[in-house]
Amino acid sequence: MLGMEFSDSRRKPHFLGKVITAVVLTALCIYILKQSPGFGGTSVFSRHDPGVTHVLVTGGAGYIGSHAALRLLKDSYRVTIVDNLSRGNMGAVKVLQELFPEPGRLQFIYADLGDAKAVNKIFAENAFDAVMHFAAVAYVGESTMEPLRYAIYTI
Ligand SMILES: NC(=O)c1ccc[n+]([C@@H]2O[C@H](COP(=O)([O-])OP(=O)(O)OC[C@H]3O[C@@H](n4cnc5c(N)ncnc54)[C@H](O)[C@@H]3O)[C@@H](O)[C@H]2O)c1
Repeated sequence: MLGMEFSDSRRKPHFLGKVITAVVLTALCIYILKQSPGFGGTSVFSRHDPGVTHVLVTGGAGYIGSHAALRLLKDSYRVTIVDNLSRGNMGAVKVLQELFPEPGRLQFIYADLGDAKAVNKIFAENAFDAVMHFAAVAYVGESTMEPLRYAIYTI
């Protein structure tokens, strides 16, 4: 009898600990999901706000794209950069993120434009008003060495 009471009293805190752990983990998962851009369409980038023009800048980590993004941000546009970082410089994107940290100004999406599924997802989850396409494999030398690869990006 005494043994049973002892084991019951030991089991209770153990059970309570499991419940608390489960609650904390669930809350953490919900928090992480809410932070992700596509969650329930609640991202600022997924909606059209009056007076805000949202521009998709492909190749925005590259030379021309990052300067275009800077100009757009300075002129109060909302900007989404899509880049696979094959050429560009994440440092340039980080500078832009530091200059325009306010929510809804700039988001960076790491994706390859050759991946149709990824591109469809990006368009489904974001409300773009315009696209400026700078993603390219455009070095002059390689355009003569590998003309077919170059052609894919200039079509
Ligand atoms: N640099 C110049 O002086 C100049 C002048 C006139 C026109 N342009 C044109 O502007 C465009 C951009 O040139 P740039 O000098 O900024 O080149 P860049 O190499 O600096 O930038 C191109 C960007 O595209 C990204 N990219 C490449 N393939 C991708 C893919 N499949 N998916 C996603 N991102 C991808 C690269 O990572 C890079 O960040 C090119 O079409 C180029 O011909 C450039």
